[in-house]
Amino acid sequence: MSVGFTDDEIRRLRAETPGCAEVAHFNNAGASLPPAPVLDTYVAHLRREALIGGYEAQEEAQARLDAVYAATASLVGGSGPDEVAFFENATRAFDMALYGLPLEPGDVILTSTAEYHSMFVTYLHRARHGVRVEVVPPDATGQLDVGALRKRLHARVRLIAMTHMPTNGGLVQPAEAVGDVAREAGVFFLLDATQTVGQMPLDVRRIGCHALAGTSRKFLRGPRGVGFLWVAREWIERLEPPLMEGHAAEWVEPDRYVIRPDAKRFEVWESNVGARLGLGAAIEYARALGLERIWARVRMLAETLRTRLAAVPGVTVRDLGAVRGGIVSFTVRDVDAARVQRELRRACINVHTSPARGTLLDMRARGLSEVVRASVHYYNTDDEIDRLVSEVARLVR
Ligand SMILES: Cc1ncc(COP(=O)(O)O)c(C=O)c1O
Repeated sequence: MSVGFTDDEIRRLRAETPGCAEVAHFNNAGASLPPAPVLDTYVAHLRREALIGGYEAQEEAQARLDAVYAATASLVGGSGPDEVAFFENATRAFDMALYGLPLEPGDVILTSTAEYHSMFVTYLHRARHGVRVEVVPPDATGQLDVGALRKRLHARVRLIAMTHMPTNGGLVQPAEAVGDVAREAGVFFLLDATQTVGQMPLDVRRIGCHALAGTSRKFLRGPRGVGFLWVAREWIERLEPPLMEGHAAEWVEPDRYVIRPDAKRFEVWESNVGARLGLGAAIEYARALGLERIWARVRMLAETLRTRLAAVPGVTVRDLGAVRGGIVSFTVRDVDAARVQRELRRACINVHTSPARGTLLDMRARGLSEVVRASVHYYNTDDEIDRLVSEVARLVR
């Protein structure tokens, strides 16, 4: 079963992924198994730091480091490296745009029911001085109702902030349709692509978002501890960085600083250089395989897993959406999610759990306290899916 990849290619890709020999990894929405080129790039840089010094190793790697900005911009369809900033995670990347957008009391943030807790609490935090947060309901498929979004627009709506795929299921939000609405209304659109970057092609121009946040460690298969923000060039100087330091701004007079004009105005100087280089290797790896091919196989594997899980009595697949991606969520009758995770772990199968608090609005609306999250990547196989499903079936009473 290969969809877009030959069986030989999958074997090669698995051989290039040391973790595939250890575990059946279905926690790609947590952190994917990195391929050898990512690991080698990261470790090689650590060695250079140890051998010649951290600053000297950075100087030596500067051209490659600069190239990671350019690669990230082109991965998401941006115009150039000046539109990209790096952080230690996607949350801070998202925050820089969210807190950077000037908002006045009475202004409105529109968002979805599928938001991740770290994002939703920042909406609430921004709302503490008179800004209102309004949640657009889902349609019958579970995705954000674009017609309802359009009806909620008025002069005080300043921001549409939405996750592309939630943490607790395979739902793909209709980002392009939301982008059309944002464009027509002239409203800033901030997209949380943490769970979609690396598993599907992304094109910020087609989507019509003005800023997009993502991470290295999930479907991109890069190192942990790196997140990125892309901001449309025309918006960079319209966003006010909520924090300042000496790389974001130049200290020009004892009482004056000048903020740099590119997206690095949101960054902090000190960083994990090896991890960023590793992200560069991960982007190169994904692009060489082709994001369209990756997306086709991820969707196929996820649908296979959903179908097989749904056939097990006592198992309920919980994914929403007209379009669904690589995250598969389910519950097992009378077995809590932590136990499913623990038992699978004993069988060297990694899954994760998603508690209600992670996506509170959606989980409450559906009366769910938790789900098991099994997230596939292109390197997973039919055999691994079979093993996962039969281990789950053994748990059902
Ligand atoms: C939908 C979604 N958005 C944002 C985040 C936050 O990403 P990070 O942990 O890199 O800050 C996550 C993390 O799991 C997520 O699932």
